[in-house]
Amino acid sequence: MILRQLFDSTSSTYSYLIASRHGAEALIIDPVIEKVDRYVQLLKELDLRLVKAIDTHLHADHITGLPALRERTRCITVMGEQAKADVVSIRVSDGEHVDIEGISLKALYTPGHTDDSYSFLMADRVFTGDTLLIRGTGRTDFQNGDPRAQYDSLFGKLLMLPDETLVYPAHDYKGDTVSTIGEEKAFNPRLQVKSVDEYVELMNSLDLPNPKMMDVAVPTNMRVGLAQDVVAEKGWALSAEQVKGSLGRPEIALIDLREEQERRKEGVIPGSLHVPYPRLEGELEEGGLLQQLAKDTGKRLIFYCAFGERSAMAVQAAQRAGLNASRHMQGGLQAWKSVGGSLRN
Ligand SMILES: [Fe+2]
Repeated sequence: MILRQLFDSTSSTYSYLIASRHGAEALIIDPVIEKVDRYVQLLKELDLRLVKAIDTHLHADHITGLPALRERTRCITVMGEQAKADVVSIRVSDGEHVDIEGISLKALYTPGHTDDSYSFLMADRVFTGDTLLIRGTGRTDFQNGDPRAQYDSLFGKLLMLPDETLVYPAHDYKGDTVSTIGEEKAFNPRLQVKSVDEYVELMNSLDLPNPKMMDVAVPTNMRVGLAQDVVAEKGWALSAEQVKGSLGRPEIALIDLREEQERRKEGVIPGSLHVPYPRLEGELEEGGLLQQLAKDTGKRLIFYCAFGERSAMAVQAAQRAGLNASRHMQGGLQAWKSVGGSLRN
């Protein structure tokens, strides 16, 4: 396995680049915008293909690298379903998985620092965002932070993991890089409380200054979605209403770019084909399924996904591959549901 802990000294943020081996798919947790060139260079050097970029929560102390990485690598962006970001490609909820080739992260909803905070469990290690820090915990005094919720996230979830579980936080201000659950239970001063009330009192008495970047970072990090209007201006978008009107016509082929987990949870548009987004580039090449489908049958490909982000990237890729009739459904399944489009399980 490849695990690189990358540091941004301005915001004291740790980002994590993870892959199962050289030549494989990779994901990154909590990337920082100023470091995107470095990440892209490292991906190249390690022969990795970035397919997912995750933010553990909406950050207040740095600007996220999610949109820049999506632009540069066409990766999928991932946040929790509670995140107030405008659009991300995939929204996960508690217990769902974020998978890439050879790696599976389990999303644990751990609110408290913010109401959209997630931790990600990967076998014997956990990426704790700002919920659990080394000898500390994330502040709970803004962004709908809640010390009571954080107590439950800590004592009811993270500290229930085996003592030897490695803890990788999103920040460290003292130079520590990794800890374990057992070590934090024993030595983290914030965790030596006897009750939830004691924890609440401790957190409410911290009286910390606001992060320097907060007024810039929070609003910026809320606008991370791909500009689907730009794709629409090129004439490559269809509204959910338009797609609904053409459902069942023989000259169209609807392509679902989502993952199995999303399809099971939300349902599928009847009659659509499944081509998960990471397989798209290959299927658009000469001899690929989508290239053949469009060329041999003359069908118009209409891509869809959860929120229209993967499909917007897919239609651009299809146009580049010469499939000029292809379109995507703007707003994804969310828009489809809003117009009462049918779904099957
Ligand atoms: Fe944070």
